[in-house]
Amino acid sequence: MNYLGLEKNKLTTLAAELNDLLANYQLYYQNLRNFHWNVSGPHFFDLHREFEDLYVDARVKIDDIAERLLTLRFRPLSNLTEYLDRAKVEEAGQVNEDREMVRIVLQNHQELIACMRRVLDAAGKVDDEGTIDMIGSFLENLEKRSWMLDAWAARKREPAMA
Ligand SMILES: [Fe+2]
Repeated sequence: MNYLGLEKNKLTTLAAELNDLLANYQLYYQNLRNFHWNVSGPHFFDLHREFEDLYVDARVKIDDIAERLLTLRFRPLSNLTEYLDRAKVEEAGQVNEDREMVRIVLQNHQELIACMRRVLDAAGKVDDEGTIDMIGSFLENLEKRSWMLDAWAARKREPAMA
């Protein structure tokens, strides 16, 4: 029994899921930086700002996830090699088209949401209400941001330039 009243040997699966989420968030974060820097075209101001909002938010959540692991007395993955090895979110590389950037962000959100649901499932099995509360709020927030991006992507295509 640890100082939180949780049995460490029962938390191993939950800790692995939290580390998966951390790794995926790190890749997602860097994809957002990439898109923030490299977006161009008629939607530059909207998307440059939107990607920044998302990465600022992701940075806070990355820290919260890592510190939740420490609170549970586990080690958060802390280097890039481990993140690349573990994450399902992929590095975006060079993307030129703004719609494609938004599509990739939405796809990254799907990976994160799936990962969060696995965390919630594992936390539920050990009655870890602290993690459930934290990740539940992350999940709701990410679902809402996904809806907004999806609404943006659903706009009509601009007529082709003459
Ligand atoms: Fe910037």
